[in-house]
Amino acid sequence: MNPFTPTFGTSPPLLVGRDGDLADFREGLQGGPGSPERATLVTGLRGTGKTVMLNAYEDVAGEEGWLVISETATPNLIDRITHEHLPRLLSEIDPRQTESHLTGVSLPGGFGADREVSARHTPRPGLRSQLNLLTDLLAERGGGGVLITVDEVHRKGMNDLRELGTTIQHAFRERRNVAFVGAGLPSAVDDLLSDEVSTFLRRADRRHLRTVRPEEVAAAIAVPIREAGRDITPDALQTAVAGTGGYPFMIQLVGLHAWRADSAAATIDVDQARRGVDQARRKVGQLVHASALADLSDVDRSFLAAMAHDDGPSRMADIATRLGVDATYAGQYRLRLIAAEVIEPRGHGLVDFTLPGLRDYLREHAASSHWGPEAALPPVERPALPGVDQERRQLPGPPDNTGGRGLPR
Ligand SMILES: Nc1ncnc2c1ncn2[C@@H]1O[C@H](COP(=O)(O)OP(=O)(O)OP(=O)(O)O)[C@@H](O)[C@H]1O
Ligand SMILES: [Mg+2]
Repeated sequence: MNPFTPTFGTSPPLLVGRDGDLADFREGLQGGPGSPERATLVTGLRGTGKTVMLNAYEDVAGEEGWLVISETATPNLIDRITHEHLPRLLSEIDPRQTESHLTGVSLPGGFGADREVSARHTPRPGLRSQLNLLTDLLAERGGGGVLITVDEVHRKGMNDLRELGTTIQHAFRERRNVAFVGAGLPSAVDDLLSDEVSTFLRRADRRHLRTVRPEEVAAAIAVPIREAGRDITPDALQTAVAGTGGYPFMIQLVGLHAWRADSAAATIDVDQARRGVDQARRKVGQLVHASALADLSDVDRSFLAAMAHDDGPSRMADIATRLGVDATYAGQYRLRLIAAEVIEPRGHGLVDFTLPGLRDYLREHAASSHWGPEAALPPVERPALPGVDQERRQLPGPPDNTGGRGLPR
């Protein structure tokens, strides 16, 4: 069976390059309340492994005897934690005590006026009271704590995150065994933190997921292949590793397609690895670049389209010319895109793509869109500092599922 998992949120056969973060987190749990890792924020571009890191953090917590609440920052987050997760955990660890605490009243008759009266005077168990009860019970039992993970942290979930943050902060002050790990795109997290969301999140330990080093990529590809009963030649492994660019999602894609190139062969050779890389490059666009581009603004995308003209690193001067803007204007977008980690500086006045295959994807997309390859790029005689509407009309836009109308961004 093919061991690789190029699917968002699915833990890889071998998670590489993250041991340090996980070891720190384990120490944070062992170290007691006050350890900085007990409030952690994981950031990274799409496909760098945020969700699978949350899985891994949850596994560490489980190994340390902690209970886990695994959530996503969608509407009604607090509701779900308060009315689903916490009651479930409470009844799991102490059914008897939970009943008396949570139900609070035995309702005479169970229906009608009696019930209404009782219900009105029975405080509905809230987030904080239940978290306190749960941590008290755990302390009585002699250990463990509660880890809450929240994926896809975003400004839209701000109110819930603020409330959760305040509650966890109280728990910290009371030296309860509680930990929090959130994950989100760097831009979404920065956006969230720029608001008065809570000092709690702002002070959280930031863990930024980057590309993985070649030795680690080699292990992530070779070990699962060998464990699944096949082998890969050193040359083929080198080809495969180079083809991933260290990008976690690509590790799984290249692994999967190198394996598939000839699944009857006992050993994967260079030719199969090469075909695997080609196939992975074709797939990564639909799977990752489409959503990565959708996260960006129109001007960001036109900047990238202007870069895609070059076969290697692009000169800033050329980009400005192609966009028809002055150097200062282009420089601002350069900084934005570097901060978003879509591009990186390469020596004097040069920038290059960070995501492997994005250049090809942009070229293909430009070629296949109804604007055609030339029209997909903004005209050269474009005035400096154009208004938003102008930007919108001139853009290639993200991959087009809209029948050529472009996305309404
Ligand atoms: N450290 C790693 N080693 C090997 N494979 C990895 C690693 N991290 C992630 N992957 C693989 O990369 C893919 C993407 O991971 P994941 O879904 O966690 O990304 P993400 O950052 O949450 O993306 P998104 O922002 O779109 O939610 C998965 O197939 C996963 O198995
Ligand atoms: Mg994810």
